[in-house]
Amino acid sequence: MRNAAIITCSDKGHAGQREDKAGPTIARLLEEHGYKIFEQIVLPDERAVIAQALTRLCDSGNVELICTSGGTGFSERDVTPEATLDVVERLCPGIPEAMRAFSLSITPRAMLSRAVAGIRGKTLIVNLPGSPKAVEECLGYALDALGHGLDILLNRAAECARK
Ligand code: MTE
Repeated sequence: MRNAAIITCSDKGHAGQREDKAGPTIARLLEEHGYKIFEQIVLPDERAVIAQALTRLCDSGNVELICTSGGTGFSERDVTPEATLDVVERLCPGIPEAMRAFSLSITPRAMLSRAVAGIRGKTLIVNLPGSPKAVEECLGYALDALGHGLDILLNRAAECARK
């Protein structure tokens, strides 16, 4: 069983002024792919708060994957990529590159996502955009490959079969 955590980064969601629809969308997609949701939280768009939660979850040893949603755009309050870069030890640029490349076939606005991905210890952190539609598109596209990457990270990959 794979364990994952979900962090929705949204001032309005955290203040209870907007229903979090992206978090449950991520949870559904992950569960459909065999993940157990270890923790699901909504945080304000505060770099230090997000970085602290990412660090806590990675260092707990309880989750192999953390998906964040939101805060990847151009608003002054969009700081999720910066919080992620504060805590990761190794970058995984191919993941956001692939999600943007796929998303550009759907909307040119995909180029506005500043999402990053990286590894801290034995945990992969992947930023996703904030809208449930974008989450579905990006995570839906990436999930199979992410599973293989996690198997390699956690020494579960018997062989690197090309798919
Ligand atoms: N990616 C996909 N697949 N589909 C989308 O609709 N929206 C884009 C982009 N990525 C979108 C997408 C838009 S409009 C923005 S502003 C950025 O994600 C950043 O979103 P965020 O600030 O909610 O994180």
